[in-house]
Amino acid sequence: MTRWLVTGAAGMLGRDLTALLAARGEEYTALTRADLDITDGAAAAAAVAAVKPDVVVNCAAWTAVDAAEEHEAQALSINGHGPANLAAACAALGAVLVHPSTDYVFHGDASAPYAEDAAPAPAGAYGRTKLAGERAVLAALPDAGYIVRTAWLYGAHGKNFVKTMLRLARGGVAPGVVADQYGQPTWTADVAAKICDLVGSAAPAGIYHATSSGQTTWFGFAEEIFRLHQAMENHDAERMPLIPRPLTTAEYPTPAKRPAYSVLGHAAWHTAGIAPIGDWRDALHRAFPAVADA
Ligand SMILES: NC(=O)c1ccc[n+]([C@@H]2O[C@H](COP(=O)([O-])OP(=O)(O)OC[C@H]3O[C@@H](n4cnc5c(N)ncnc54)[C@H](OP(=O)(O)O)[C@@H]3O)[C@@H](O)[C@H]2O)c1
Repeated sequence: MTRWLVTGAAGMLGRDLTALLAARGEEYTALTRADLDITDGAAAAAAVAAVKPDVVVNCAAWTAVDAAEEHEAQALSINGHGPANLAAACAALGAVLVHPSTDYVFHGDASAPYAEDAAPAPAGAYGRTKLAGERAVLAALPDAGYIVRTAWLYGAHGKNFVKTMLRLARGGVAPGVVADQYGQPTWTADVAAKICDLVGSAAPAGIYHATSSGQTTWFGFAEEIFRLHQAMENHDAERMPLIPRPLTTAEYPTPAKRPAYSVLGHAAWHTAGIAPIGDWRDALHRAFPAVADA
């Protein structure tokens, strides 16, 4: 049986991954930030040596995109040096490391899906720190490091776009939402399932894109959330439905530049004989009861 070690286990992805491992009867150790700070190299080495995992999944990260602009050194410590510590510990033990990363490693000015081997060119601090982590993992573990890039994540645990839209919908507020940034809304439970597929396969080490298929804008995503909410609440068809308003990026400024086009290609899954995550809308429909009830 595979022995798993999950770091950052209290985060949005960490919680769905550990729930899936539990449901599958896998042997795993879940370490939250309080149990292991991955920026502490000696502690990371000791934790990995104590558990002796076959696979480490690093769900720990600095995910505050805007705050990273002002605190890049701290973000780099967690997103760059932390994975380097885990990669060194895995290399010493012969363990596999699965390291989630992000679409923000790309510039976001493409017009066709980014391939796994497309040249990264982060537009901001968060992307730079995540790219440093990717490079550290691949350098230390050329045959046993998996970079699993994801994007536009939502799930039952933690703050995310679906929960924010639901809160507004429940409060009767129709928000303005950016309609000129394209991406792939992705459910954390689907990413967790792909991580399990990868680990259970003979897929070569390297980069995989764990995002939903298809694409939409934040506005399109919001419209679908409002539609699902209204269907779930059995809204009277006669009543005026609540509909978000489309905004441009210029109308919704943020400290960190957001990629205009964040659609990722899925060729590596096909090459490895693993099905990529399905359409984003189907995923949202499957996820909705769990996320709405959380
Ligand atoms: N969320 C998204 O939309 C998104 C999009 C693309 C990629 N990703 C990537 O997906 C992965 C999972 O993201 P997520 O949304 O699950 O993140 P999350 O909910 O913010 O969880 C990250 C976890 O890491 C913990 N952590 C932070 N610093 C740590 C440290 N030094 N040592 C140990 N644990 C630490 C956090 O603890 P505290 O809360 O106590 O700080 C938190 O529990 C990350 O690699 C992220 O970059 C996320």
